[in-house]
Amino acid sequence: MFISMKSVSAIVAGICLGAVAFQATAQDDIPRLRKAAEGLFLIGNALPTRAFSDVIASDIAAQDFNRLTCENEMKWDATEPQEGQFRFEAGDQLVEFAQKHGMKVHGHTFLWHSQTPNWVFQDPNGGRASRELVLKRLENHIRALMTHWKGKIDSWDVCNECYEDDGRVRAPGGFGGNWRQAIGDDYMEQAFKIADKVAKEIGDEKVLLVYNDFNMYKPGKRDAVVKMVNDFKAKGIRIDAIGMQAHWQSNDDPSIETIEAAFKAYASTGCKIIISEMDINTRNGFRNSGRGLERDDSVQGNADSSADALAKRYADVFDLFVKYHKDIYAVTLWGIGDSWSWLRGGQPLVFDNNLDPKPCYYSVLKSLQKGQAALKK
Ligand code: G3I
Repeated sequence: MFISMKSVSAIVAGICLGAVAFQATAQDDIPRLRKAAEGLFLIGNALPTRAFSDVIASDIAAQDFNRLTCENEMKWDATEPQEGQFRFEAGDQLVEFAQKHGMKVHGHTFLWHSQTPNWVFQDPNGGRASRELVLKRLENHIRALMTHWKGKIDSWDVCNECYEDDGRVRAPGGFGGNWRQAIGDDYMEQAFKIADKVAKEIGDEKVLLVYNDFNMYKPGKRDAVVKMVNDFKAKGIRIDAIGMQAHWQSNDDPSIETIEAAFKAYASTGCKIIISEMDINTRNGFRNSGRGLERDDSVQGNADSSADALAKRYADVFDLFVKYHKDIYAVTLWGIGDSWSWLRGGQPLVFDNNLDPKPCYYSVLKSLQKGQAALKK
């Protein structure tokens, strides 16, 4: 049974009496997403570590999901705020929780234009650091994290959000162009080479190396990423999976046909597809721009935020995920409940502000169950 707000007082009372609330609920036979997704793909969620001190959020994480991503705590600013001074405590908490509950961990993220401290790009005199120095720092960072969590991380986002929607690589000097400016045009290639080299050195070759981005359904970005992956493969550079963030809209944006075309294109590279950060924006006139949630009038007037519309949208996209389950490695929702989401003030997730399941939770469950039943035929 779900631990809902209605049952919180009972749980608190149980804890006070020394009862183990988690275990009591974990034995229930109520169908949950994790069970329903077996045989199709891994199903994940992104959590901040404060979720582990919330009895309801923790219970949902363990029962509904078998893959975890640290929402912020494995990013560069959290793990290496000053050069060579690493902080692993927050990430360790997530890894321990995941291990305890038999979940895989996704590491997010090594190279990203955002949440990377300025020192990475500066030389000791305050000028611009050389290509060699920045590459050395990137390697040092990747080695420290991969070594610390050796054998405990299933997949790493090696590069995050490097392309514009039209397929251009983010320009040096422009928004998000810091890594390209510091290292040069081959910066993604260098990052993947370093990650693969370190994985080999430390004997953790099973870890999947991922390119992750938003708006991955847009033809310009899609075709550029496919070309990049094919170029890497032709050069013998390892890249195992493509992460489609899937911060989508509650209306038909992107359309199922557009998402499907992207699946076909990414699958053609031989890479696994990961739906890495899924949520459905229910706010009119806003869209994820890469700088966060920004005004975009083209979204206004057609986003339907009703619970029924959201349930249908979730059903439509999960039916598609099920159809492409052989190409899809994992689907991760970006947050437990609406009040935890970076999409403040919306209703983008499958649990509400009180962490009670919404109609869209049940539509996801139904899509998964239908998919699982079809596998058994
Ligand atoms: O670090 C401070 C903390 O000290 C302070 O107590 C707190 C108070 O508000 O703010 C903290 O930083 C915030 C951080 O989340 C941790 O809560 C930042 O201001 C805030 O900007 C940051 O937002 C995160 C955002 O990435 C940063 O770009 C969101 O939680 C996180 O969901 C979001 O996730 C990104 C993915 O990493 C990449 N793809 C897009 C996705 C959504 O934007």
